[in-house]
Amino acid sequence: MEGEAQTWHYGLIAKWWAEFNDGFRPHEIPYFQRYIERDGEPALDVACGTGRLLIPYLRAGLDVDGCDVSPDMVALCREKAALEGLSPTLFVQAMHELDPPRTYRMIFVCGAFGLGSTRDQDLQSLSRFHKHLEPGGTLLVDIEVPYADEELWQYWLKDKRAGLPETAGVPRSLRTASDGSELGLRSRIVELDPLAQRVTYEMHAEQWRDGTLEAEEDHLLNIGLYLKNELLLMLERAGFAEVVVQGDHNDAEATSDDDFIVLIAKKR
Ligand SMILES: C[S@@+](CC[C@H](N)C(=O)[O-])C[C@H]1O[C@@H](n2cnc3c(N)ncnc32)[C@H](O)[C@@H]1O
Repeated sequence: MEGEAQTWHYGLIAKWWAEFNDGFRPHEIPYFQRYIERDGEPALDVACGTGRLLIPYLRAGLDVDGCDVSPDMVALCREKAALEGLSPTLFVQAMHELDPPRTYRMIFVCGAFGLGSTRDQDLQSLSRFHKHLEPGGTLLVDIEVPYADEELWQYWLKDKRAGLPETAGVPRSLRTASDGSELGLRSRIVELDPLAQRVTYEMHAEQWRDGTLEAEEDHLLNIGLYLKNELLLMLERAGFAEVVVQGDHNDAEATSDDDFIVLIAKKR
C-alpha cells in the first residue's frame, strides 16, 4: 500500500460525486475563481474530483488543468466536461507524485489535502507544489480543522476511542441517478490515532434498481488531521514564504470559529 493513496473516491462513490455533489459548498467556487482571475493563470486544480470547481472555471474561459489520484473521478470529470464541449488537460496522479506537463501561476487543493496519504507524503506534496509553481506563484490549500466535527473530535479522548469502530448504520435514503439507478451511502469512523493525527473512515455504497440490490462496495479513507501551526511549519519547510491564513473561503483572516481554513502561500 506504500505509495498508493488510501481514498474512497472510486466506483459507486465516484458515481455519487459526479451525480450529486456539484452543489456542495457553493461558496468555494467563486473564492478560488477570484484568485485565478486576479493573477492565477494557468492554474492547476489538484484533486479536481469530478470537476465541481474545475468545470465552472473552464466554462468561464479560465486556463485550468486538473489532476486526481482516482482514475474513476478523472474519467467522470472528462465525461462531464465533454457534455459541455470542453476538453481540459486532466491527468491521474497522487499529489505527492505530482509531475504535471507545465508550470503554474496558481495551484489549489480544495477538500483533499491530507486525504489518503501519510504525513511524509503530505510534505512531499507541498514540495511538489512549490516545484511546479512559477516564481511569484501562489498555492491555496484548504483544510477542515479537526475540531470542527463534534463526532470526530470526541475520539481524541481515550475513553471515547474505546468505542471504535462505530457500528454500521443503514445507508442514507436512496437518491436517483441519471441512469435510473438509486444510490445510497453510509460512513463510519473505524479508527482514530491521536498520536499519528490520523482518522480512518469506512464508506459503504449501494446501488439499487427496481427494488433489487445491483452492487455494493466498501472503501476506506485515511485522513491526516492537521492544525494551522503545523501546516505553517510544513509550508515553510517546503520553501514557501509569506503565508496568509483565511477563514472559510471568505477573504477574512481565520478565526477560532472557522470550521475550514485556507492557507495561501507564495513562492518567491
Ligand atoms: C472530497 S473530494 C474533492 C474533489 C474536488 N476538489 C472538489 O472540491 O469537489 C477529494 C478528492 O481528492 C482525491 N484524492 C484523495 N487523495 C488524493 C491524493 N493523495 N492525491 C490526489 N488526489 C487525491 C479523491 O480522489 C477525490 O477526487
